[in-house]
Amino acid sequence: MFFASDNWAGAHPLISERLTKEAAGFASAYGTSELDRSIEARFSDIFETDVAVFYVATGTAANSLALASLARPGGVTFAHSEAHVIEDELGAPDFFSGMRMIEVAGPLGKMDAESLKAQIARFPQDAVHHGRANSVTLTQATEQGTVYDLSEIQTLTQIARENGLGVHMDGARFANALVALGATPAEMTWKRGVDVLSFGGTKNGCWCAEAIVFFDPAKAREMPFIRKRAAQLFSKSRFISAQLAAYLDNDLWLDLARHANGMADRLRDGLAASNTARLAWGTQSNEVFAVIPRATAKLAEDMGAKFYEWPTPKDVAETIQKDESLIRLVTSFATTTEDVDRFLDILQQA
Ligand SMILES: Cc1ncc(COP(=O)(O)O)c(C=O)c1O
Repeated sequence: MFFASDNWAGAHPLISERLTKEAAGFASAYGTSELDRSIEARFSDIFETDVAVFYVATGTAANSLALASLARPGGVTFAHSEAHVIEDELGAPDFFSGMRMIEVAGPLGKMDAESLKAQIARFPQDAVHHGRANSVTLTQATEQGTVYDLSEIQTLTQIARENGLGVHMDGARFANALVALGATPAEMTWKRGVDVLSFGGTKNGCWCAEAIVFFDPAKAREMPFIRKRAAQLFSKSRFISAQLAAYLDNDLWLDLARHANGMADRLRDGLAASNTARLAWGTQSNEVFAVIPRATAKLAEDMGAKFYEWPTPKDVAETIQKDESLIRLVTSFATTTEDVDRFLDILQQA
């Protein structure tokens, strides 16, 4: 019953096998091998446009360096107040990009368009003391398990465009959002005005595979230097390519995300039907937020369930009582129906 994070899951066997296979023999280093080149071409096929792809080790590195590529001196970036770049990356995006992260409010982890406009207005281009608006970063799927629909993405990127700002998407759970929407990778990104994407593979079955994807390769000119200076240029880059080869083959990445989302659906249905627990809010990806009595949370933990108690967002604070916990349950490609059903049974027993 591992619901703490999709990072707790291992690697999918097909990905591990491919990594082992590529571990034999020799190939040129630093992203120049045949395998590296072929995976870069695969990304262009998947996104239906010529893209430039740069591997990094972690999602934090992907976000930080993607934002660094959009940055200008004195720039500020706008992100949802609960965004990973603000809450969970220890200032790495600020450090690498040299920009301040400015919070934008909005319910359920999504930036509200009016709040974004109001925040942008606070940072005009001549604001030498406060900083000038530079870019917007949105998380898809969001940290609260919700997913921006295509028109919501378009609305935010249009505001960015009207103000001359670049747009970054944190896609640590890109595949989960994509299958939730039933959209194509192109529709959810550059066709809706996204300039650069952090494409996450690690949470969805890879061992360690994160890529920064530029939809206009001309905008990636500085990236080789930004990445090397940040010590993120892999010499044995082909091992990341090997993982992504298996990940992208036969749409494995989409199948794994569909499975994870399906397990979350099962949890959501069970929680909605439960008389001891309830959903804190509706989510569309592989994260589920539930409100359960503290005693039940303790019982579930004692019986081996792993999950995190979650900080209560302001917009739902009034709905949660003192003797209740808000918990986050994350499913992954490795979650089983037995795990979900056992967890739901424990809640019922309580
Ligand atoms: C929304 C989001 N972005 C990025 C990351 C990447 O984090 P890490 O640097 O731990 O790979 C995570 C991981 O938890 C995440 O949830």
